Amino acid sequence: MSHQLVVVLDFGGQYNQLIARRVRECGVYCEVKPYTTPLEQIKAMAPIGIIFTGGPNSVYDEKAPHVDPEIFNLGIPVLGICYGCQLMAHTLGGRVTAAQNDSAREYGKTETYYNTDCKLFKGLPAQGISWMSHGDYMAKVPEGFDLVAHSDACPNVAIADEKWGFYGVQYHPEVNHTENGVAMIRNFLYEVCGAAGDWSMGDYKNTAIREIREKVGGGKVLLALSGGVDSSVVAALLAEAVGNQLTCVFVDHGLMRKDEGDEVERAFARWDINFVRVDAERRFLDKLAGVTEPERKRKIIGEEFIRVFEEEAKKIGAVDFLAQGTIYPDVIESGAGDAAVIKSHHNVGGLPDYVDFKEIIEPLRLLFKDEVRQLGRELGLPEYLVSRQPFPGPGLAIRIIGDITKEKADTLREADFIFRDEIAKAGLDGGINQYFAVLTNTRSVGVMGDGRTYDYTLALRAVTTDDFMTADWARIPYDVLDRVSVRIVNEVKGINRICYDITSKPPATVEWE
Ligand code: XMP
Repeated sequence: MSHQLVVVLDFGGQYNQLIARRVRECGVYCEVKPYTTPLEQIKAMAPIGIIFTGGPNSVYDEKAPHVDPEIFNLGIPVLGICYGCQLMAHTLGGRVTAAQNDSAREYGKTETYYNTDCKLFKGLPAQGISWMSHGDYMAKVPEGFDLVAHSDACPNVAIADEKWGFYGVQYHPEVNHTENGVAMIRNFLYEVCGAAGDWSMGDYKNTAIREIREKVGGGKVLLALSGGVDSSVVAALLAEAVGNQLTCVFVDHGLMRKDEGDEVERAFARWDINFVRVDAERRFLDKLAGVTEPERKRKIIGEEFIRVFEEEAKKIGAVDFLAQGTIYPDVIESGAGDAAVIKSHHNVGGLPDYVDFKEIIEPLRLLFKDEVRQLGRELGLPEYLVSRQPFPGPGLAIRIIGDITKEKADTLREADFIFRDEIAKAGLDGGINQYFAVLTNTRSVGVMGDGRTYDYTLALRAVTTDDFMTADWARIPYDVLDRVSVRIVNEVKGINRICYDITSKPPATVEWE
């Protein structure tokens, strides 16, 4: 696919993917590359612009990440954000120091004044809030650069060398707290880099379909369909591209949400594809019987998926291509160091390395999640599938604390359905990124009618988040929680107490296991 390209050089900041998403929202394709990417490689990509991200370091630290100074001789415009701005200043002969006093160190929302003669701020208000997060200070600006924005505390909030197309901002234009931040990124792309705006989902769809057809020819394709957004969109794309050469294998492990299997099956009925729904509830529950340890549950389910999948692949025979729903965040090699493994996430669409396929097809590997949803809409998938919240591969198994039985799964399914139903009825579903019920392993005494009960405690979990790496618990109004509680206790046998989880991530995780 040939598009104009912007390279986002990743220095390990927390908003790096957000920067890339913003660029794409502006209709320009971009890729995130680690800051260690050799200059030759960057040159070969022929970008129209380069963006340096923020990062946790100080440029004068011994171990601070640097760039090859030759990057400034490529004739390609550069926008440095936060650490990226300081790095540009430092590399081009300026001086960056630790802020001496608190007033030069800025965090949070800051009133900022812009020079609107500068291309970066062209057509925008001369004053507005920007989101700062820097402890370092540009004590000396490099030669050739002008100061183009300041705050009350800091004279050099943004610098520019317009002759070369170099711009640096101390704040984060990519976050929503910065007023007109996206417009500034847009100005960099269109006013400075000469972007044509050639990245759109309609184009992407047509090109992807053409490329898939060329690659697959008359061959057979197999897709492990989990019913999640990513694999559903891959299925729709492949259905459009190769029709009945595609077989979707949907493994129902008996730990899906209420009616989920039927919904997925219905959504694909309009395409002429082979859809295999494997009812594997019994074998999964048998394998999981008596298992309480979360990591073991995950491993067992991952392994069993692969076994079922293998069996189905054998039945179809002569399948050359395996399709998966890998998306861009899975592909990005970050500039930051390795993070600790908290949970062994497994994705149903994950590549089983033992199966002998000629080639892998990953048509979403360049897309962010919100772009995947957009593509799904382009392909005509129903909104409830496209906008659905994430659902983990191991399903309800990691939302039933302790051992798993069919009865517990049924109980949780009903309670979870009521929670989701009430959230939707209250019109809150668009604002909460993930919400579900958890069946705890705790039983407590209650009273219903005139009788004593000794039943399970159900926990409700609802979070708001941008990226699921961190999350805040959702402030659901009490009256909505009350309706959920009353309905669940009345309608679902086996539950007599409801708790609402008010921990954020960190220190908790989104799922309970
Ligand atoms: P945690 O619990 O790690 O969850 O804070 C973050 C996000 O990841 C989802 N999740 C999974 N997704 N396979 C998946 O495909 C998994 O094994 C898995 N475990 C957690 C979780 O639902 C949340 O959206």
